[in-house]
Amino acid sequence: MTQGRKKPRVLLGVTGSVAAYKAVDLIQRLKPFSEIKVVATEAGSKLVPLKALEKASGSKVWTSLFKGATPIAPGTPSGSHPLAVVPHIEYAKSADLVLIAPASADILAKLALGLANDLLSTLCLYATCPIWVAPAMNVKMWNHPAVKQNAGVLRYRGVRFLGPESGHLACGEVGDGRFAEPAEIALQVQSYFENFDRWAGRKILVTAGPTVEPIDPVRVISNHSSGKMGYALAQAALNRGAEVVLVTGPTRIIPPVGAEVVAVKTAEEMRQAVKKVSAHVDLFIMAAAVADYRVTSVAKSKIKKTDKGLTLQLTPNADILGEVLKNRKKDQKVIGFAAETDHLEKNASEKWKRKPCDLLVANSVGGQNSAFNGDRNELLVFSQKRSKPVLLKKDYKSRLAEQILEMIDE
Ligand code: PMT
Repeated sequence: MTQGRKKPRVLLGVTGSVAAYKAVDLIQRLKPFSEIKVVATEAGSKLVPLKALEKASGSKVWTSLFKGATPIAPGTPSGSHPLAVVPHIEYAKSADLVLIAPASADILAKLALGLANDLLSTLCLYATCPIWVAPAMNVKMWNHPAVKQNAGVLRYRGVRFLGPESGHLACGEVGDGRFAEPAEIALQVQSYFENFDRWAGRKILVTAGPTVEPIDPVRVISNHSSGKMGYALAQAALNRGAEVVLVTGPTRIIPPVGAEVVAVKTAEEMRQAVKKVSAHVDLFIMAAAVADYRVTSVAKSKIKKTDKGLTLQLTPNADILGEVLKNRKKDQKVIGFAAETDHLEKNASEKWKRKPCDLLVANSVGGQNSAFNGDRNELLVFSQKRSKPVLLKKDYKSRLAEQILEMIDE
């Protein structure tokens, strides 16, 4: 992919978000493994000193589409016009990745519409490599229907989104719109370049998120799974060039671009979706929090509230992982999970004996440090190749996902 060059080329776009100053940190993290050229939009260059970007990247920051170009004299032969040899245009054509970080609402709108009214938006039309964006903006802006629609258009076209994350925003508000951590963005870029094509030709099935079991037409039994762990694993497999089928229960997060997404609600639907593709899968990653029980008899109408208590009879759901293990072919690998509230190592070890996966990834779901929902997790991984479980210390789920996939290749 880097056509014989030592380091892959990243064209970094810095746009008008308060997070623009973090681009300096990002460049420093990208630099050890990539060659970086920076393009700043007019707004971006007002929010971070260009000198700081230049010092970090070691080269001049490009800001203008027309800098260095001269008006065309009538009669000039075509192809000899100065714009035809403007180096950044050439660079965009040969870049391995365009990374816009931070990406403002404005650049998302320009990309969605295909506008070319400044250097960065124009380069994005020239670029034939993947385009990634790391949005950063106020929560109200991020949730505005226009921004949502633009983001949807871009995702549909294959633009990869890194974040935004949820949390405290520069404006003082709290919510979605926070710039992803530079370390996190750099990890994704590094993983993409290092692992590109490593798993090409492999088909991976990932289950993620919760299942939802109806009680009546309005009520359900479910759990706190957000889907983040499973989606991170799907993304890590996509980074390696694998074909990924993501069977997911209902979540509020957006599945990674490039995965074939099968949306399910109940454990039985998840079971059927898994069964359908099982024969063609090389690796199963069962990260979903599947409901162990469903309501035996789902009420057809809303159950009326009374002063008396309500007793529900529950029926065990099929164990999807158990079935996968039972029917697995010799060369199919299986990663199972174990979610425990107490005695993690002991309980997970017993689960592993009952469900002898290639890897069993155990995590705690009780108390303040629950594996559910957060961006980080701590894992204890049991491997058939190791005599003792391996502790993967608290880290971003995306980073843990990379580590888990590394262990599969051991
Ligand atoms: O989604 P997040 O918010 O990021 O949270 C991540 C997570 C906590 C959901 C994830 O890390 C995790 O632990 N997933 C498995 C949760 C679970 O159901 O664990 P379990 O110990 O109950 O089940 C053991 C294994 O059997 C799991 O691989 C599970 O997918 C599978 N299973 C369970 C029940 C069932 N009926 N069928 C199954 O296949």
